[in-house]
Amino acid sequence: MDKFIINGGKRLTGTVNISGAKNAAVAIIPATILADGPCILYNVPEINDVSIDLRILTEMGAEVKIINKNTIRIDAAHIRDMVVPYEMARSMRASYYFLSTMLNRFGRARVSMPGGCDLGDRPIDQHLKCFKALGADYTIEHGIVDIKADKLIGTQIYFDRVTVGATINAILAACKAEGLTILENAAKEPHIVDLANFLNSMGADIMGAGTDVIKIRGVNKLHGTEYTVIPDQIEAGTYMIAAAATKGNVIINNIIPKHLEPITSKLRKIGVVIEEHDDYLRVIGQERYEKTTVKTMPHPGFPTDMQPQLTALLTMAKGTSIVTESMFDNRFRYVDELRRMGADISVDGKVAIIEGVEHLTGAPVKASDLRAGAALIIAGLSTEGITEIEDIYHIERGYEDMEIKLQNLGADIVKRVFTDGMRKAL
Ligand code: EPZ
Repeated sequence: MDKFIINGGKRLTGTVNISGAKNAAVAIIPATILADGPCILYNVPEINDVSIDLRILTEMGAEVKIINKNTIRIDAAHIRDMVVPYEMARSMRASYYFLSTMLNRFGRARVSMPGGCDLGDRPIDQHLKCFKALGADYTIEHGIVDIKADKLIGTQIYFDRVTVGATINAILAACKAEGLTILENAAKEPHIVDLANFLNSMGADIMGAGTDVIKIRGVNKLHGTEYTVIPDQIEAGTYMIAAAATKGNVIINNIIPKHLEPITSKLRKIGVVIEEHDDYLRVIGQERYEKTTVKTMPHPGFPTDMQPQLTALLTMAKGTSIVTESMFDNRFRYVDELRRMGADISVDGKVAIIEGVEHLTGAPVKASDLRAGAALIIAGLSTEGITEIEDIYHIERGYEDMEIKLQNLGADIVKRVFTDGMRKAL
C-alpha cells in the first residue's frame, strides 16, 4: 500500500552509486549452504529479496550476521533440513536455488513452488530436467517441490532453452556431484559468472561460465570464503534511462562497463550521450530521442529486465518504435499504466508498437512487477506534474534505497508509508 509520490520534470544531476547485483546475490546467498565454514559477502544489496533469503537461512539454523548495511557473514555449518514454506518462497523466484543447495547438502530438498514477478508462464521444467539428469527423483505435491538423491552423478545436460535460473540451479547441484558435468546451451548472464567465481573461491572447479558451455568437475568439499558481489547492471541501466528521460547529466558510479554493453549501445543508438570510463559512466540526456526497434534476448543481447524502462523512454521518442519481448509471455502489463500517463502504445502478443508523444502527464499508477515499477518511476520523473505509484513493494524487492538515490540526484520523490491504521481508514 505504500506509495511513491513524484513531482516530475526535474533534471537529474550528480552521481549515483550502483549497489550489488540482486540476481547475483540471490544465487550466492543460498550457495553458502554448500560451505563447511563461514562466508563473508561484501557489496550485498539491502533489498527485500535478500532479506527473505537471509530469513530462510536463519530459519534453517544458519548463523547470519549483518556486519554492516552491505556486508553479511553467513555460517551454515549447523543448518538442518527443512521445508522452505510458501509464505517465504512465494514472493521471489530465486527461492528455487534452495532446491539445488539443500539437495546437495542433505540429499533431499523441499521448497514451495517459487513466486516472483508475474511475467506470464514461468515453468521450472528445465530445472527438474537437470536434477533428474544428475540422478535425483522428484514429486510436486501440495505446492511443494520434493527432490531426493542418494548421490548426484555428473552428466551432460543440454538446455531446451536458455534459462538463467536452471543454469544456476544446475551449477549449484553439480559442483559437488561425482565426476564431470557439462552444461550446453547455458545462459551467459554476468550473475552466472559471479556465482561461478564465488563457488570457485570456495574450492569448486567450474570452467566456461559466461559461455554457452560450462564444465563443472564435482569436488568433495567447499570451504568458507570472502567474496564481493558484482554491481547490478540492471540497476545501472535503470538510472541511465532515468538520466536520459529527464535530460539530465548523471555519473553512474561503481559499474562494470562490459556488463552494460547491450544497454549502452542501444541508448547511444537513439541519441543518448554516454561517456564510458573504467568504473563509471556519464549519461548526458538530450531534448528528444530517435525511434528504434529492439528485441529482448539472453545476454549479451538486450536484457528483458531493461525492456519496461526502455519502453518508458521510447514513449517520448520521435516516431514509431517497436519492442519485442522474446523472453517472457506477458511482460507488457505495465503498458496500461503508461497509457494513463498519455503514452500511445499498442500491444499485440509479444510486440509493443510505440508512437512517440511530446510528453507524458502525471497520473496515479500501479506497479505490477519490479521492472514495471521502475518504468513508471522513469515516466513520472520525466513528466511535469504529480505521479503516484502504488504497490511499490515490487520495486523494493530489487532496488536499494531508490527514492533516496533519486532524491540525491535532484528528483522530487517521496515515499508515503501507510500505517495499518491508515490502511484501515482507506
Ligand atoms: C531470471 O529469472 C531473473 N531472476 C529475471 O529477473 C530475468 O528476467 C530472467 O532471469 C531472464 O534474464 C533472477 O535471476 C532471480 P529464465 P528466471 O529461467 O531464472 C522460461 C528481475 O526483474 N523457462 O532465464 O526465472 C521462462 O518461463 C527478474 O530481476 C522455462 O520455460 O528466468 C522464461 O520464459 C525478472 N523453463 C524464459 O525461460 C524453465 O525451466 C527465461 O527464464 C525455466 C525457464
